[in-house]
Amino acid sequence: MADFSLKPTLVGDLVEVRPARASDAQVLHALMSDPEVSRLTGSVHSDDEAADETWTVEQLEAVYQRWSTATDRIAWVIVERETGQVVGEVVLSDLDQGNRSCGFRIWISGATERGLGTETTRLAVGHAFDGQGLNRVELEVYDFNPRARHVYEKVGFVHEGTRRGALRYNGYWVDAHIMSILTSEWRSA
Ligand SMILES: CC(C)(COP(=O)(O)OP(=O)(O)OC[C@H]1O[C@@H](n2cnc3c(N)ncnc32)[C@H](O)[C@@H]1OP(=O)(O)O)[C@@H](O)C(=O)NCCC(=O)NCCS
Repeated sequence: MADFSLKPTLVGDLVEVRPARASDAQVLHALMSDPEVSRLTGSVHSDDEAADETWTVEQLEAVYQRWSTATDRIAWVIVERETGQVVGEVVLSDLDQGNRSCGFRIWISGATERGLGTETTRLAVGHAFDGQGLNRVELEVYDFNPRARHVYEKVGFVHEGTRRGALRYNGYWVDAHIMSILTSEWRSA
């Protein structure tokens, strides 16, 4: 049986992915103020909103405190090994024990385009399959995020379908694409 209360640190060549804790809230709060992260993760509905703060540090502390013992998700901070800096977050969420599946999401701020996202995705997905014995990992990515789609495809995620007009952004409707990867695909990659 999968057990997301176990939250190991995963180590790659470029990143160390370690369980998020309440004391990470301050640095994550600063990184989350990046409007690009707010926009690309669908956390806001306009550039104006993206420029505003959506969470306080105290609210984030409470969230990460709760998640540090959650049994249905593993939230990690992404640490760039070269600098020792926290650069983002990656999460396996919504563990479904019966169907041995979970969700995936990731964001990086200020350290994109140097391979960290690809390696982090591989580490987290590898943990879902090799560490936890899951069968399926699913994610959602907006149509205006070709970089993320490219990374997910590189790791082995397959496009399954589209939630048309799922996000309203700056008055426009944006499609959300559902992608997934199965353990058989991960093993044969
Ligand atoms: C998406 C994200 C996790 C990817 O991580 P990253 O560290 O930037 O990605 P990497 O450096 O590992 O790889 C980027 C790849 O995208 C490619 N790429 C860059 N811009 C692209 C574009 N506009 N279209 C297609 N591919 C693009 C790069 O060439 C590279 O591919 P390659 O290694 O095959 O050359 C990161 O950019 C991020 O968090 N962005 C902000 C928030 C976000 O988008 N989160 C995901 C929400 S679904």
